[in-house]
Amino acid sequence: PVRASQQQPRRRPEYVPNRIDDPNYVRIFDTTLRDGEQSPGATMTSAEKLVIARQLARLGVDIIEAGFPASSPDDLDAVRSIAIEVGNAPVGEDGHVPVICGLSRCNRKDIDAAWEAVRHARRPRIHTFIATSEIHMQHKLRKTPEQVVAIAREMVAYARSLGCPDVEFSPEDAGRSNREFLYHILEEVIKAGATTLNIPDTVGYNFPREFGDLIADIKANTPGIENAIISTHCQNDLGLATANTLQGALAGARQLEVTINGIGERAGNASLEEVVMAIKCRKELVDGLYTGINSQHITLTSKMVQEHSGLHVQPHKAIVGANAFAHESGIHQGCSVTPQDGMLKYKGTYEIISPDDIGLTRANEFGIVLGKLSGRHAVRSKLAELGYEISDKEFEDFFKRYKEVAEKKKRVTDEDIEALLSDEIFQP
Ligand code: KIV
Repeated sequence: PVRASQQQPRRRPEYVPNRIDDPNYVRIFDTTLRDGEQSPGATMTSAEKLVIARQLARLGVDIIEAGFPASSPDDLDAVRSIAIEVGNAPVGEDGHVPVICGLSRCNRKDIDAAWEAVRHARRPRIHTFIATSEIHMQHKLRKTPEQVVAIAREMVAYARSLGCPDVEFSPEDAGRSNREFLYHILEEVIKAGATTLNIPDTVGYNFPREFGDLIADIKANTPGIENAIISTHCQNDLGLATANTLQGALAGARQLEVTINGIGERAGNASLEEVVMAIKCRKELVDGLYTGINSQHITLTSKMVQEHSGLHVQPHKAIVGANAFAHESGIHQGCSVTPQDGMLKYKGTYEIISPDDIGLTRANEFGIVLGKLSGRHAVRSKLAELGYEISDKEFEDFFKRYKEVAEKKKRVTDEDIEALLSDEIFQP
């Protein structure tokens, strides 16, 4: 296997709303500032949203969904500021300018607010949505399916009539909607001028194969679909958001909606770092798909979002958790009593991604964390790192005492090691 860092980055194709220049290129649509901000307690100020938007642009995100402008005058201001600044500033080696997108329900007031906010960007987008599942149409909208189609068609056309060149349409709760009805409404909005068709699994209900089939069926059965980009938006209620998103990409979606650290409504969204690194790490399984993300900015972006949203990731969170590159067990560390070639001998044994690849600088070269599972080899390496040389006999005494301490503690720190060494048996 080739570690992700050994692979060459590919050039990002020119951005045209509804054209696929390179069929393998997957656009990353980041909705940290919209769906992510809808996480309970994650509200951010306009200034914080602007700081994060700048970082998302550096990360190489193709589309930044900056907010829901009709939701409040503050959010409209925040989206407008992002459109003015980030939406006009080329970034990265390829000098790309991200699309700035604002969300709206399917009504004129929302669409006017979204347009007022995003129109300042070089590449503005309005994202409008209406629910299409039976349960939502009946109990939330109280509208018939044909009324819903008429509203969607009219509102997409209205957004285009304002001068917006790029309009995304989402049939909300598509994951639980009738297939034939989806083909019909999507056909109508394409005719009305939609450039991207986003397929949300709004309540995170789908299984990966089911969601992949949904995307494949939409691609095969919707008249005019070749004139639009298909997108995924997977919520994480069953913990399947990343898997569903990847399955959607394999089935033909070329835009993936994600958030940093997977934040979002309820259990959150597919996480950008997981989706992007899976595509990068398992190239042989994704038929040559690639993104324009500069993965070296992932760690910093994750930290910034944690700080500004107040939502901290769990230590074992894939890619960005504090333990994601930490190795404690003797087996993994390459302890001399185990036959395994561990981290201390060759890093590739337990690391499928290089920490450098996500811009992570570790406290020590091997990401070794000492604990009760650490073996002699790791503990000896730590002593050497701290500048101590002791005889084999002394080491055996030390290791016995180390194990006693480690049994009682979650982690053995450098200070614990120093304290053990200062015990009298090691004094000259
Ligand atoms: O989850 C959802 O359906 C959404 C849409 C607005 C895309 O957030």
